[in-house]
Amino acid sequence: MRARVKTGIEGIDRLIFGGIPEGNQVVLAGGPGSGKTLTCFEFLYKNALLGHTGIFFTLEEKPETIIENAKDAFTDFKDIDALIASKKIIINGSNVMTNLKGSGEAEPRYAFTETIAAIQSLIESTGATRVVIDSISIVSLLIKDLFIYRTLSISLVTVLRDLKVTSLLTMEIETPEKNKLIFLPEFFIYDGIMTMYESGSGGSRTPALEIIKMRGSKHSFSTVPYEITSTGINLLTTETYKDEAEQVF
Ligand SMILES: Nc1ncnc2c1ncn2[C@@H]1O[C@H](COP(=O)(O)OP(=O)(O)OP(=O)(O)O)[C@@H](O)[C@H]1O
Ligand SMILES: [Mg+2]
Repeated sequence: MRARVKTGIEGIDRLIFGGIPEGNQVVLAGGPGSGKTLTCFEFLYKNALLGHTGIFFTLEEKPETIIENAKDAFTDFKDIDALIASKKIIINGSNVMTNLKGSGEAEPRYAFTETIAAIQSLIESTGATRVVIDSISIVSLLIKDLFIYRTLSISLVTVLRDLKVTSLLTMEIETPEKNKLIFLPEFFIYDGIMTMYESGSGGSRTPALEIIKMRGSKHSFSTVPYEITSTGINLLTTETYKDEAEQVF
C-alpha cells in the first residue's frame, strides 16, 4: 500500500482515508475566495511542523501577501515565522509575470517553460517533498492556444511526478456553485481533484468541499461544509454526514 501524506487538515484526511497517496499531484479547484490559498498554506504548515520541507510557489500573489493573509486568518498558527526562517516552508514568487513584460504574442509559453524549470531546480536544491502551485489557472489565462496550454500543464505535472513530491495545485473555477460546475477536460492529467464550492441556494449557500477523485485511495463522495477558523480549515461534520461517515470509515 502506498504511503500517505497527511494534509494536516483532519477533515480532509478523513475523507481520503488517511491522507494523499504519496507522490500524487492533486488539484484544488474552487471559486474565487473559497479558501484555496489558505488550505494550501495549512497543508505546508502542518507538514513543516512534522519536519517535511514544503515549497509554496505563488504565481499570482506576492510571497509577503501569502504570509500576511495566512497569519491574519490562522492566528493560532504560532510557528509561521520560525518555519519560514528555518526554511521548512519556502514561499517563492514566480517570475512568470515579469518574464511576460514587454514580450510579444508568442512569449507566454516560454515564460511558463522557464517557470517550470525554476520550480524543478528549487525542489531539487531544497529537497522539498511537499509542493504547492498557486494557481495554475494563470497558465490558461496567458496561453490561449489549448494545445500549448495542455502540453505545458502535462509538462509541469510530469516534472512534479518525476521529483516524487506530493503537490496541491490550485485552479480557479468560474462558478462557486456546485450545480453549475463543469469538469474541465484537463482534469484527467491530475491524480486527484478536490473542489471547494458553495452548496445550497439563495441565502443558504455554504462553502463545501468534495473529493472528486483520488488515485490510489478510497474516498468519501460526501459534500462537506467547511469554515475558515483561527486554528485552520475546519470541515463541519453535520449529523447526516456523521451517520454517513460511520458507514464509510
Ligand atoms: N481572518 C479570517 N477569518 C476567517 N476567514 C477568513 C479570514 N481571512 C480570510 N478569510 C476567508 O478566506 C477567503 C480567502 O481565502 P483564500 O485567499 O485562501 O481564497 P482563494 O480561494 O485562494 O481566493 P482567490 O480566488 O482570490 O485566490 C476569504 O474570502 C474569506 O472568506
Ligand atoms: Mg488564492
